[in-house]
Amino acid sequence: MAEITRDVLIIGAGAAGLTAANDLRKAGLSVAVLEARDRVGGRLWTDVIDGAMLEIGGQWVSPDQQALIDTIDELGLETYSRYREGDSVYVGPDGKTSRFTGEMFPVSAATEKAIAEITERLDAMVAEIDPDRPWAHPKAAEWDAVTWDAWLRQQTDDDEAVRNLAFATGSAMLTKPTHAFSLLQSLLMAASAGSYSHLVDADFILDKRVVGGLQRVPILLAERLGDDVLLNQPVRSLEWGATGVTATTDDLTVRARFAILAHAPVLYSRISFVPPLPRRQHQLHQHLSMGFVIKVHAVYDRPFWREQGLSGTAFSPYELSHEAYDNTNHGDERGTLVGFVSDQNADDLFELSAEERKERILESLSHYYGPEAKNPVVYYESDWGTEEWTRGAYAASFDMGGLHRYGADLRAAVGPIHFACSDMAGAGYQHVDGAIRMGHLAAENIIDAGRAGTAASGA
Ligand code: FDA
Repeated sequence: MAEITRDVLIIGAGAAGLTAANDLRKAGLSVAVLEARDRVGGRLWTDVIDGAMLEIGGQWVSPDQQALIDTIDELGLETYSRYREGDSVYVGPDGKTSRFTGEMFPVSAATEKAIAEITERLDAMVAEIDPDRPWAHPKAAEWDAVTWDAWLRQQTDDDEAVRNLAFATGSAMLTKPTHAFSLLQSLLMAASAGSYSHLVDADFILDKRVVGGLQRVPILLAERLGDDVLLNQPVRSLEWGATGVTATTDDLTVRARFAILAHAPVLYSRISFVPPLPRRQHQLHQHLSMGFVIKVHAVYDRPFWREQGLSGTAFSPYELSHEAYDNTNHGDERGTLVGFVSDQNADDLFELSAEERKERILESLSHYYGPEAKNPVVYYESDWGTEEWTRGAYAASFDMGGLHRYGADLRAAVGPIHFACSDMAGAGYQHVDGAIRMGHLAAENIIDAGRAGTAASGA
C-alpha cells in the first residue's frame, strides 16, 4: 500500500473538487485529488459515440452563472450560442402540435392568464428567498410542508397551467415527480437561477455551450494539478480526528490535515468514516436523493427542422420527452437534437427493451419535429442511474420538509472534513456553476481554518 501526505486531500475530481484543489494550490497548500473513475469531470463527460461528439452530462451555461463563466474565461475556452432561430413547438393536451415564439406556450387565453399570474406570484416569492439560506425565510417551514404540485393546484384549477408551471422545476430541473418535493425546494431551484422566470426562459437558462465540450473545464483544471490527480482511486474509508484525516483506497493511503468530500451527498455512505460521522449528518444525508432523467441524443445528417423554420426548441408536459432542443455541435454539418425523459417516465422506459425504448422516445420527438426525427444516424441515451459514482441526474434534492429541517447543516464542516458539491450550492444549485462556487468556498474555509490553526476542531 503506497502512502502519501498532503495538506488537503480532495475526494472527487468533478468541477467542485478540482476548483478547490486549484485554489488550495494557489494558496501554497499541497493537495491530492482522489477520483474513483478512470476519468476526471464526474457529471461532465464529453465523449465521441459512433463518430458523434456528445455531451453525456452537463453542457449549458447561462448568463447568471458567473463562477462558471469566470472559470471558462480563465481557462481560455470559447463558447457559442445554442441555435434558436425560428419557431418553438408545443404539444397540447389534445396531442396537437403548435408553433410559438417567446416564452408563453400557445395555450388558451384563460390558461395563459393563469400561468402569467402564478409566475408573477412565484417571482415575488423567489425574490424573498436567499438561495444560500432558503431555510431562513419566515415561511420556510410552511413552504417546506406543502408539495410543489399541491401548492400549484391551490392556485388554480386549470390543469394545463399547473402542468406547464410545474415542469420548470420538476421534470426540467429537480427531475422528480412534483409530489415528491416541496414548494420551498422549488423556490430554491428558481432562486438559484435568479428568478422563476429565468428557469422558464430557455434562451436564458440554456444559453451557451463550450467549444469542444464542457468537460474541457475539469480536464484543464486537472491538467494544472498534474500527478496530484489520482484516477481509479475510490476512497473506501476516512479516518478523522484532531490531527487530520487518513483516506484509504484499494492501493493507497493518503494522510492530510483536511479533507474535502467533493461528490454527490448520496455517495457519502459509500465511505466508512472512522469514527462515524455525527448523528446530525447521518440523519440529514438520508433525506437527500438524486433525481433521474434520461438525456437522449439523436444525430441526423443535417438539422432538418431548421428547413421548416423551427428552432428545435420544443416543450410539452404531455409528451414522453417533455423538452427538446437543437444541440448541434459548433461547426458540425450534422444536426443534433437533445431530448429529456424525466422521473417516472424514465423509470417506465427502463422496463422496456432498448429497441422499444428508442422507438418510444423517437416517436415522441417526431411529434415535435415530424417523421424525419425517427431516423437518426446516431442515437444515444445518457443513463446516469447506472453510474455507480453518481446514481442519478442531474443532482440531489431534499425530500419533503428536509430542506428546512437540515439544509443549514449541509455545508457545515465536521472537524477536518469539508463538503463541496453542486448539490449543496445556493446560486448555481445543481449546476456546474454551483459546483465551482462550492469548490471555492470549501478551499476558502480550509485556508481560513489553516491560518487560525483550527485544523480539526469540533472532531
Ligand atoms: P460530480 O458528481 O461531477 O463529481 C464528483 C466526483 O467524485 C465524480 O467524478 C465521482 O466519480 C467522484 N467520487 C464519488 N465518490 C467517490 C469516492 N468515494 N472516491 C473517489 N471519488 C469519488 N449543469 C449545468 O450547469 N448545465 C447543464 O446543462 C447540465 N446538464 C446536466 C445533464 C446531465 C445528464 C447531468 C448528469 C448533469 C447536468 N448538469 C448540468 C449538472 C452538473 O453536471 C453537475 O451539477 C456538476 O457537474 C456536479 O459537479 P460536482 O463536482 O459537484 O460533482
